[in-house]
Amino acid sequence: MNMLKEIILQDSEFMLIQKLIFKNIGITLDESKKSLVKNRLTKRLNFYGLHKFSDYIRIVQFNRDEASEMVNQITTNETYFFREQAHFDFLERISKELKEEGKIRVWSAAASLGAEAYSIAMVLDNILGASRYEVLATDINTEVLQIAKKGFYPLPWVDKIPTLYKQNYCLKGKNQYEKQFLIHPELQKNVYFSQANLLEPQSTIGKFDIIFLRNVLIYFNDEIKALVVENSIKNLKENGYLIISLTENLRSIHNPMLKQVDTSIYQKV
Ligand SMILES: C[S@@+](CC[C@H](N)C(=O)[O-])C[C@H]1O[C@@H](n2cnc3c(N)ncnc32)[C@H](O)[C@@H]1O
Repeated sequence: MNMLKEIILQDSEFMLIQKLIFKNIGITLDESKKSLVKNRLTKRLNFYGLHKFSDYIRIVQFNRDEASEMVNQITTNETYFFREQAHFDFLERISKELKEEGKIRVWSAAASLGAEAYSIAMVLDNILGASRYEVLATDINTEVLQIAKKGFYPLPWVDKIPTLYKQNYCLKGKNQYEKQFLIHPELQKNVYFSQANLLEPQSTIGKFDIIFLRNVLIYFNDEIKALVVENSIKNLKENGYLIISLTENLRSIHNPMLKQVDTSIYQKV
């Protein structure tokens, strides 16, 4: 049997990876992540036929595509439809209030596999109709964005979607797709995907009525958290809402532009 030899991740190599990840995407990888990093990046070393992490790090330092691939391997992308239902109830209420105004724009700013963006689209489509809203979904991870764009999900994921939305916006796969469902192509038309790094200001995407910035701040230290919030709300309209996860808070960073209006919901003043 052809057994691959285990590759050791030296402390000095792990430190270099920690620095690279922090510099590129702001994520702090503590010691507890060492074996996760080793396991995930070993695939990349095998791909290149390398035996030392230091050789892989040298490639990452000079090759932007591989640096991006490393980020794809390291980020945690857990997500599901209608995660934290309270936020979708809030979205429903606000979109009813804004119904008579122009198009509503919502940004899913750490979109992962797109479940959050499509959940937002279902709520808005149901209340406003297709021509009255758009959803932008961005993430640093190019691999999850490719999957999200296709709109195919494993069948068990549909269980989290409320029945009305399931009936109107999800198509059950047939034949080779029978273990999947597809987000209705008409709904997909209102959801745009692109890569964006939250550490950088986004000057080309315009302003939004609501920004979902959920389950990503948890990976940042206070300094980066403050920067990410400051960057994100540059794209928030006056009186617009910033929504973070129910398990996160902004207590450690003071931003005078934000007023808390509910648990995990802030309004730009
Ligand atoms: C756990 S998922 C959250 C998904 C979704 N918002 C939710 O709540 O279900 C976190 C996402 O943040 C992304 N991410 C991490 N650092 C980022 C950065 N600097 N810029 C943009 N996205 C980032 C990851 O790639 C990952 O897909």
